[in-house]
Amino acid sequence: MSETTTARGAPGDAGASEEHDLMERVVNLCKRRGFIFPSAEIYGGFRSTYDYGPLGVLMLRNVKDRWWRSMVQMRDDVVGIDAAILSSPKIWEASGHLANFTDPLVDCRNCHERWRADKIAGVCPNCGSSDLTEPRAFNLMFKTYAGPVEEDATVAYMRPETAQGMFVNFLQVLQTTRKRPPFGIAQVGKSFRNEITPQNFVFRTREFEQMELEYFVPPDEGQRWFEYWLGERMSWYLDLGIPTDKLRLRHHDPGELSHYSAATADVEFLFPWGWDELEGIANRTDYDLKAHAALSGEKLEYFDQATGERYVPYVIEPAAGATRTMMAYLIAAFDEDEVGGEKRALLRLDPRLAPYQVAVLPLSKNDTLVPVAREVLGLLQPLWSVDFDVTQSIGRRYRRQDEVGTPLCVTVDFESLEDRAVTVRDRDTTDQVRVPIDGLVEELRGRLPV
Ligand code: GAP
Repeated sequence: MSETTTARGAPGDAGASEEHDLMERVVNLCKRRGFIFPSAEIYGGFRSTYDYGPLGVLMLRNVKDRWWRSMVQMRDDVVGIDAAILSSPKIWEASGHLANFTDPLVDCRNCHERWRADKIAGVCPNCGSSDLTEPRAFNLMFKTYAGPVEEDATVAYMRPETAQGMFVNFLQVLQTTRKRPPFGIAQVGKSFRNEITPQNFVFRTREFEQMELEYFVPPDEGQRWFEYWLGERMSWYLDLGIPTDKLRLRHHDPGELSHYSAATADVEFLFPWGWDELEGIANRTDYDLKAHAALSGEKLEYFDQATGERYVPYVIEPAAGATRTMMAYLIAAFDEDEVGGEKRALLRLDPRLAPYQVAVLPLSKNDTLVPVAREVLGLLQPLWSVDFDVTQSIGRRYRRQDEVGTPLCVTVDFESLEDRAVTVRDRDTTDQVRVPIDGLVEELRGRLPV
């Protein structure tokens, strides 16, 4: 765990309150427009868990799909897996999580709140008291029982990272795909950590999604591939719309490195509260394969039949959070401007991440317009994620689509019945052009990147 927060501005200064405001607006928008809801809200919420609503599920899927496309689909040296979340204690014994995956927990003796000692500098953030207990190691893994009997033999853990799934399936993947280093195994899925203080909306939650690659290389090529992945991952965030001045790489000092790591760097985003981690990229050496080999008795190594060489590969790991990354894209995209003398809020999301790429809007609910609008919807739905909205005035519907980041609106009006053409409106410029229905797919293809 390697998260650093650099505070920007003291409480009360103008910059700090502006940033606080931005965070509040994004959180409000997420709830109001159906991106992210507090979980079990009808029961007062449940311990910092969140549910992804109709728009959130579309956007989160886009974030994960873009990652998969760049890390798996566009490469011939990476394959995917989807490993079990419920996992054997042996995995976590070998990986070191049972012994080491802990945070230092302290209790405030005054108000009885519990905190992560390394995050609070000796003072309880709730009541200001510095009368704290000595820190004790608190293991972050969720423990449960697989089977009807709650006994030691049935203990299972909810995985705290997806990475170990790649190590324990290393041999099977090698044998079934006939890959040879350098090659990678990728996985996207839920992970669970019993965080002491979940915070900052979906930045740190107990249930979250990760996107991880374990890239196996000959040991003497470790450093080269580590640097290669730093470049690849930075480009991925920039390409999808994180501004360059809000993204940076931070190399870990030797004293900060995890026990398995020869080198680590974090990709950091400038969140409203300061620079913080989106992704960790590590050279994990041969630590994990050797640890699993030792405990399982299996030989987890690569044998090169051509040269007769046998070795345990080094692993380069770019490990990102999908839910956290989605939040960063929402914050980076949030904007306000003025259109026709009216203030508007909008998400300047890259079309590839936006929940809807297009909205089809019949000018009115008139019986003659809706069938044509539905015809247009039918043309576009196989190609893009499309909203269809007939409620309220057209101006209000444009604002609603702007606010959820829909890059293009297609309006069907009474003239459309005569000229078989529609109006295409751009979210960012609000410019409108008239396009024949016959040429609409081609027009949108030209404006929406694949
Ligand atoms: N396999 C290495 C690993 O899991 P990590 O730095 O602990 O490394 C990788 O996690 C990424 O997963 C983080 O950079 C972050 O984006 C995301 N992540 C970790 N803990 C999280 C949490 N409690 N809530 C949301 N995202 C989290």
